[in-house]
Amino acid sequence: MASRGRSDTNNNLETLLDLDKLATRNGVAPEPRKMMPGNGLEFKNLSYSVMKKQKKDGVWITKEAYLLNDISGQAIGGEIMAIMGPIGAGKSTFLDAIADRIAKRSLEGSVRIDGKPISTNHMKMISSYVMQDDQLFPAVTVFETFMFAAEVRLPPSISRAEKKKRVYELLDQLGLTDDD
Ligand SMILES: Nc1ncnc2c1ncn2[C@@H]1O[C@H](COP(=O)(O)OP(=O)(O)O)[C@@H](O)[C@H]1O
Ligand SMILES: [Mg+2]
Repeated sequence: MASRGRSDTNNNLETLLDLDKLATRNGVAPEPRKMMPGNGLEFKNLSYSVMKKQKKDGVWITKEAYLLNDISGQAIGGEIMAIMGPIGAGKSTFLDAIADRIAKRSLEGSVRIDGKPISTNHMKMISSYVMQDDQLFPAVTVFETFMFAAEVRLPPSISRAEKKKRVYELLDQLGLTDDD
């Protein structure tokens, strides 16, 4: 991928992944994690670039900039994975890539779940994407927020009473009801 001529900055995601490989604990490098093909979420050779306008010697030039450059890894079923890095490292871009939120023709590489390539519909059914910006309205209650989400996301075949029931169940699961 080096042949692409990407400009190396020190805080991009693949640099951080490289640093992670070199990280040692008590002077001993950790064993590289064994891959388990066909298990959970697998992403392979993800690359994504945009055309960026830059001023060089007083002249505006358009240059291809790689936001993701050959990223591979796996999140195994039943485990929690954190994506960490400084601002601008590419965490959100990476999440967009694995959540199928980047146009397929701009993204290179593959994303699979339990061995199968993802489709936009399947991804929407099995995952939730919570934006980093605050999406809650301060003037409405948690019940009203969930009810609104239920009204717009669940099909009309589900009755209002059923939606209400599901919202109460969710509030209960989250420990947000009075009685316990
Ligand atoms: N559509 C885009 N066009 C150009 N540059 C972008 C675009 N999206 C993100 N970037 C740049 O890519 C880098 C990574 O951004 P982002 O994924 O939002 O980082 P993070 O979430 O880790 O803070 C940043 O330098 C950002 O400015
Ligand atoms: Mg971000």
